[in-house]
Amino acid sequence: MSYQPTRSDHFSFGLWTVDWSGQDQFGAATRPPIDPVEVVHKLDEIGAWGITFHDDDLIPFGSDAATRDSILKRFKRALADSGIVVEMVTTNTFSPPVFKDGSFTANDRRVRRFGLRKVLRNVDLAAELGAATFVMWGGREGQEYDSAKDIFAALERYREGIDTVAAYIKAQGYDLKIALEPKPNEPRGDILLPTVGHALAFIDRLEHSDIVGLNPEVGHEQMAVLNYTTGIAQALWSGKLFHIDLNGQKSVKYDQDLVFGHGDLLSAFGTVDLLENGFPSGGPRYQGPKHFDYKPSRTEYLDGVWDSAAANMRMYLILAERAKAFRADPEVQAALEAAKVTELAQPTLAPGETLADFVADQSAYEEADPAELGRRSCGFVRLNQLAINHLLDAR
Ligand code: GCO
Ligand code: MN
Ligand code: MN
Repeated sequence: MSYQPTRSDHFSFGLWTVDWSGQDQFGAATRPPIDPVEVVHKLDEIGAWGITFHDDDLIPFGSDAATRDSILKRFKRALADSGIVVEMVTTNTFSPPVFKDGSFTANDRRVRRFGLRKVLRNVDLAAELGAATFVMWGGREGQEYDSAKDIFAALERYREGIDTVAAYIKAQGYDLKIALEPKPNEPRGDILLPTVGHALAFIDRLEHSDIVGLNPEVGHEQMAVLNYTTGIAQALWSGKLFHIDLNGQKSVKYDQDLVFGHGDLLSAFGTVDLLENGFPSGGPRYQGPKHFDYKPSRTEYLDGVWDSAAANMRMYLILAERAKAFRADPEVQAALEAAKVTELAQPTLAPGETLADFVADQSAYEEADPAELGRRSCGFVRLNQLAINHLLDAR
């Protein structure tokens, strides 16, 4: 197999990913910026399907109306010429100094009103460009010092903000869904909605929860020492996996944004196995784009940018191939059965069994032999070794 991506793979990249020029906390840019029009054509050339961006990635913050129009006109022409689609749009509510204490949850009400209007304006742009998803990552919604933030009020304002955006989407009749992106910290010391679980619980309290779901990112869950695959699995179970940010992270550090699979490879295999093959006994499937939110390392120059972009897609395709072979292997099927992985889909109570029937069932408890049940090998290690054999192509 050539691992050559095609449009039908639905791979997409953030404009801020490939166009990151390497400027970080400790050093200046190591590459010149790339014209967004060139990014669109390059993405097309390497086999990607979509592009995503923050308003300010494309249209510099504070641009006047004429500048905005001419940038958009050029960008739209590049999209039309290349066939690259805008599948998601997101808003920068974290870079300009006005957002230093956040946007929707800033203590200063004027900042909140400004931020909300910036987001609504960007919702219009997302709809105009035909995006299906509107990602909201609240990187500055949080605090460094607990005394500085009334968390109850902050969550109330967060809810008010998201519900206002959702209400606006509905009022305008846009076919757009909101995807919240959890992250535990960075840039704030602590960020609100730090994990998939926190965000799912938050969505449940919204008035317009029907159009609000999640955009979980590999590295963000791993920064919180959590299992990304398990996180997106629960989002799927909740009907809330609207979008994904794939990248790589090596344990608990700053947000590394490595190429997908260049961090925890075994975990990446599990993620692709779930995305490509679904749950072992069926259930909801992720249908959205495979979106990469990575950063080309600042050690690489412009050629390295495109090498690393291609590496994300190649990693995904390799893992998809290995995950397919894993599931198709009769030995794996037998091992899944032996490990009773498929038995878990069987309800614990029998069809039609009442609570009284259950409590009266002596075989379930009084006559059961827990010591015997505790003595059997589950077979999980063998199954994991089979997964690794497939991952390493050591069959
Ligand atoms: C980060 C985030 C962002 C968001 C982006 C989309 O840690 O910087 O992952 O890259 O994904 O802002 O809203
Ligand atoms: Mn990130
Ligand atoms: Mn992200």
